[in-house]
Parts: sequence; structure tokens; C-alpha cells
Amino acid sequence: MIYLDNAATSRPKPPCVAEAVVAAMEDFGNCGRGVHEDALSAARTVFSVRQKVAALFGARPERVCFTPNSTMALNIAISGLLTAEDHVISTDLEHNSVLRPLYRLQQQGMGLDFVPADRWGRPDYDAFEKLLRPNTRAVVCTHASNLTGNLLDIERIGVFCRQHGLLFIVDASQTAGVFPINMERQHIDVLCFTGHKSLLGPQGTGGLCVGPGVEIRPFAVGGTGVQSYAESQPLEYPTRLEAGTLNSHGLAGLGAALDFLEQTGIDVIRQHELQLAKRFYEAVRQIPDVTVYGDFSQAERAPVVALNLRDYESGQVSDELAERFGIATRPGAHCAPRMHRALGTEQQGAVRFSWNFFNTAEETDAAVEAIRLLAAED
Ligand code: ALA
Repeated sequence: MIYLDNAATSRPKPPCVAEAVVAAMEDFGNCGRGVHEDALSAARTVFSVRQKVAALFGARPERVCFTPNSTMALNIAISGLLTAEDHVISTDLEHNSVLRPLYRLQQQGMGLDFVPADRWGRPDYDAFEKLLRPNTRAVVCTHASNLTGNLLDIERIGVFCRQHGLLFIVDASQTAGVFPINMERQHIDVLCFTGHKSLLGPQGTGGLCVGPGVEIRPFAVGGTGVQSYAESQPLEYPTRLEAGTLNSHGLAGLGAALDFLEQTGIDVIRQHELQLAKRFYEAVRQIPDVTVYGDFSQAERAPVVALNLRDYESGQVSDELAERFGIATRPGAHCAPRMHRALGTEQQGAVRFSWNFFNTAEETDAAVEAIRLLAAED
């Protein structure tokens, strides 16, 4: 199988990730639930992962809160910071993990506006200013579209948020581990990430990094291992947002993946992935009857290329790629309804190819060849 579905989940992982998970399953007690060696061993590892995540994103380790994925992190941030009295600005590039928590609050009365995207998936940056209202409280947006790979200029949006006293909540699902992110420099108040994509960790890991002075109401409350006689959730981070036993086995794997990223260098990883995505783009754009989506004039973009072949249903093309050529892609709507509408692909969907560090030029060329053959068929 040529795996080009890394925007859904990265595969393969570096071998050290599974090794760390297995070792943790054999050794760990419950993090923060005892002082015996096995519980301490879990607690030490989990804390070291907080430190690694904090170092990667310019956050404070005690304000790195773990969740099972970025969807949960976004739910916690959105429902714990916003109310029905607020107004929020988001964008057409968002995934449902941002959209649905926002729509739910909108149904309760919250004001919600979207910065529109054009048919190349580019946001209209001037719209941020135009959409501002007296009760605007936050901008919630992705760092990169999971469908087109277009990057949002989060530095620029961060400055806008600071100028207007808005909270800035960023979904880094498609960029964490590939692009440099610094919460302080980019004025990010809450950074939501998942462990299983470009961070190369196991599924079931993720979290949110909470900036200084940001007070998030807990989403889930329950066992924390501390302050057991208090009737409400402890207010200290990370405990405030971490009710119940943590996935310390998965987090051990994430820690190993973060070590791999550090040793390899995310700049090296990004250059490799972008080179392959560009190689693919430059070849497929010349094949007759292929439509490629997104803004490829961007110097840097997430390593994703979405395309369609004639008016073929994207699921059918993706099936052919898998069945006949052994190539894994993701078709359909990608949980990104507004982005598909902006691109005009609501009915057809699109076939998305996405790379990781372990993909090769040969695999990329084989994918080009498969598209060329499909395009040549009647
Ligand atoms: N959000 C993931 C994707 O884009 C699953 O495929």
C-alpha cells in the first residue's frame, strides 16, 4: 500500500512510538494516582511529554492539558470560553471540529460570522475587520485547511486579535509537527493539537495549550487524584481540564514521537513533505481533465493536494486508486463543508493526497502515474 492519507492520520509512525507504548503498557501504574514506583513512572513520563509539547509550541508545561484528540480540545476551549452573549469570527476553511461546537453555541444565541474563502480556498483577510462587533470575543480558526493545505496567516490574525482584545483559538491539527508554532509570538491564547497526525504519535492523544491569563471552564469534571474532598473540579491547570485517567500509554508514544521530531528537525520534515507534494502537484496539474484545488502560489503550505478527475465522484476515484493501484487517499467531504462549498465541490467531493516524512519520490510518482492512467480511460 502506498499510504497518502497522512492528513487523516500519519502512517507509518517511527518504530520508537510503538516501542514506547508497549513499554508503558507493561510498566505504568496510573499517573497521579499513587506514590508507588509504577504510578510515579507514568507521572514522570506524562510530565516529560508536557515539557516536550510546551517546548515545541512555546507554552508552559503546566498549561499543557491532554485530551484524546483535537476535537475534544476544541470542544473544551470553545465551550469553556464562549457564551451565548458573545460574538465569534471563524473562517470557511474550518473542519467540523471547529464548526459544530460553534454552531451549537450559535443555536443558543451566540453571534457567529465566517471570513469567506474564494474558489482557491483563500480567506479574505479584510473581512476580519469588517466582521468585528462590539461583543466579538474570539477568533477561532485552523492553521491550515485539511482539504486544500492552504495555510492561514496566523501571525496576521494573532496581531488582529491582540489589537482588538480578542481571544485567539487555533486548531493546529494539520500543522503541529510540520510548521513552527509559537504561542507567544503568534499571540495564540489556546492552541489545540492532535497527536496522531504530523506529531507522529498514537491515536487517542492530543490536547490544548492554554496561554497565560486564559481561564477555561472545565468541560468534564471528575476524578483527578488531588483535592478529592472538593465538590468542584480543581482550578489548577492541567488538572482543571483533565478529569479521569489519562491515556498515559498513548502519551508515552507521543513523547517518543516528539523526540523523533526533535532529532530529525521539523524543518527537515517539512521540506521533504513539501517537496513531494509539489512534485505531485506539478505533474498532476498537467494531466488533462484533472482539477486541483487550493492556492499553490503560497510559498509554504501543508503537504496536501486535493483534486478531481473530470466529473467523477471522488469516492469512486479513491476506490479505484486503492483497489487497482494500492494507493490510500481520502475522498468525500473531509468534514469540511464550508471549504467544499467555497471550492464548488459540494456534490463531487475531492480526492485528497497527503504526505508524511516516510513517503518517497517513487511513491509520489506512482500516484501521478495512477491518475494519468485513470484520466486516459474512458
Ligand atoms: N480530520 C481528519 C482528516 O482531515 C480526519 O482527514
